[in-house]
Amino acid sequence: MENALNLDTVVLAEDRKHVVILDQTLLPNECKYLTLNKGEDIWEAIYSLRVRGAPAIGVAGGYGYYLLADQTDTEDMDAFVEACRKNMEYLNSARPTAVNLSWALNRMHGVLLAEKEGKTVAEMKQRLMKEADDIREEDIQISRNIGAYGYELLEKLGKGVGVMTHCNAGTLATAKYGTALAPIYIALEHGWDGKKDLHVYCDETRPLLQGARLSAYEMQAAGVDTYVQCDNMASYTMRAGKIGIIFVGCDRVAANGDFANKIGTSGVAILAKHYGIPFYCCAPSSTIDMTLSSGDEIVIEQRKAEEVTEMWYEKRMAPEGVGVVNPAFDVTDHSLVTGIITEKGIAYAPFQESFEKMGIRPVEKFVDKK
Ligand code: MRU
Repeated sequence: MENALNLDTVVLAEDRKHVVILDQTLLPNECKYLTLNKGEDIWEAIYSLRVRGAPAIGVAGGYGYYLLADQTDTEDMDAFVEACRKNMEYLNSARPTAVNLSWALNRMHGVLLAEKEGKTVAEMKQRLMKEADDIREEDIQISRNIGAYGYELLEKLGKGVGVMTHCNAGTLATAKYGTALAPIYIALEHGWDGKKDLHVYCDETRPLLQGARLSAYEMQAAGVDTYVQCDNMASYTMRAGKIGIIFVGCDRVAANGDFANKIGTSGVAILAKHYGIPFYCCAPSSTIDMTLSSGDEIVIEQRKAEEVTEMWYEKRMAPEGVGVVNPAFDVTDHSLVTGIITEKGIAYAPFQESFEKMGIRPVEKFVDKK
């Protein structure tokens, strides 16, 4: 089984004209890469979760912005900027909740607006390629830093600790290492024995099974003692004393520390509070949206009913015509959160103050405006 750290989730192809995406809908059974350069194909790959996880879709958005800019056939800078603006809005419409997509697109567009004066369109295209590469490179370092802070918490709990996670916030969800699973990779680098010193419990994460398919694969391939549990088994393992700490990822954090993550996360947080288990959200600072005062302002993506009633079943398993609820994310209240682990350190309540001390500020938005 290939260690997932050796798989590139999203990179620019050697020809610099295509983006290469690992198709995560096929994992863990098949490891297939897609080589894309059309806007609709990149949009579809993000919408269909072929590339998924907040930081990874940010990287895909950056490369998508660059490739569509590169394909824009004009020498006129105003026409170029307008084409890029339209492409940015189009790509951003693929998924609404994870801020990293709009964050990366805003960053690309901000560079174009700030640096276009005195440059040709061809020069700006080169500059945008570099910016997209930078977003990816920075994500690797950010994930390592999050992992290092999370590892300090694991060290305090000691070897043999049980870690619960929800959805997949591992290397597959980022450029490398992940957020919630990064502390595990760092512990292994420090010589922890994956079979004895760490026990990872992955919630299967209905309806798209990112926990069972992706987190379980990553952890097992890394040599960690790994368990899959159905989402409704979390209380059982917590009560049984198997869980020492919970690490989850997130898609958007509001200024007050409320955060959106994969559907089911808030239930895990409520259980953790009941059992007195530390519950940490792991987030690159780009996931913190200081323009939102609370989680009530986060737009929650609603997805197709068939994901609940048909996908993964040989035959449709729910009655035809029944109503279906399928929000892709939920909001965890900040009062349930022990800490938010960023690449700049761990934020504690009151979160807004803690974020501000870390220098995290609202960023200018060209898309994703309220
Ligand atoms: O719908 P997905 O698979 O993109 O959802 C992913 C999550 O909810 C992750 O926990 C989150 O994006 C953080 S990834 C580091």
